[in-house]
Amino acid sequence: MSYFKLIKIDAIDSTNSLMRELYLSNKCSDGDVLCADAQTNGRGQHNSVWNSAPGKNLTLSIYKEFNELSVKNPFLISCLVSLAIQATLQSFKISKISVKWPNDIMSGNKKICGLLLENIFKGSSFNSSIIGIGLNVNQEVFEKLPNAVSMYQISNKNFNLDEVLNTCLTFLNQKLKLLDQPEEYILKLYEESLYRVNKVSTFEVEGQIFSGIIRGVTANGLLKVQREDDELMEFDLKSIKLKN
Ligand code: BTN
Repeated sequence: MSYFKLIKIDAIDSTNSLMRELYLSNKCSDGDVLCADAQTNGRGQHNSVWNSAPGKNLTLSIYKEFNELSVKNPFLISCLVSLAIQATLQSFKISKISVKWPNDIMSGNKKICGLLLENIFKGSSFNSSIIGIGLNVNQEVFEKLPNAVSMYQISNKNFNLDEVLNTCLTFLNQKLKLLDQPEEYILKLYEESLYRVNKVSTFEVEGQIFSGIIRGVTANGLLKVQREDDELMEFDLKSIKLKN
């Protein structure tokens, strides 16, 4: 049996930022969770802003420590967190869930959850992660975000936020245990869930548009894309954009 703190906050700038402050002042331990009703400065990937209607969705951060030996590669953590969210949504019967590389969770062609994983290194070794999760649960409308969707919009039902939170934490613990499995096993599970895998898609690289097919990921998280001329190429997040 393991114990962790679950701290619920009415409002904060960003749960990830607060978790980092707690970490820096030695005030958090493995598995601790911060969950806010509202964030005034929610942070997304690539320095974007994460907007979420107060009291309607889940915005939380989890502090997880990793044994250096059990983690060869931080990308595997990102894979398993994505798979945990997928399992959570599937357990609430939300349809067509996939993972848009590297870690946007999609329902059909719309984004239902965003993840912001901030890894903490001690010296040169990877030590722990702040796992930020923004899951759209009961929000009815998304102003100026045509690509966003919530569980409510898909199922026409309101969900109990505590129930969704507990399910999410349960799947997270379950999936992170898979870190002791071979890397290939985790990557295969992740690849099976990839958005638009094995379908012709449009990409943009250095301003050039081209067609290609997502074939999977490399062990360190590069996207493998087969081009029309059959060449298999690998791209990092900064260099490629999936257009559809
Ligand atoms: C993305 O851009 O897709 C990532 C969004 C991550 C949002 C969550 S909400 C809880 C946690 N605190 C933050 O400031 N961001 C993450």
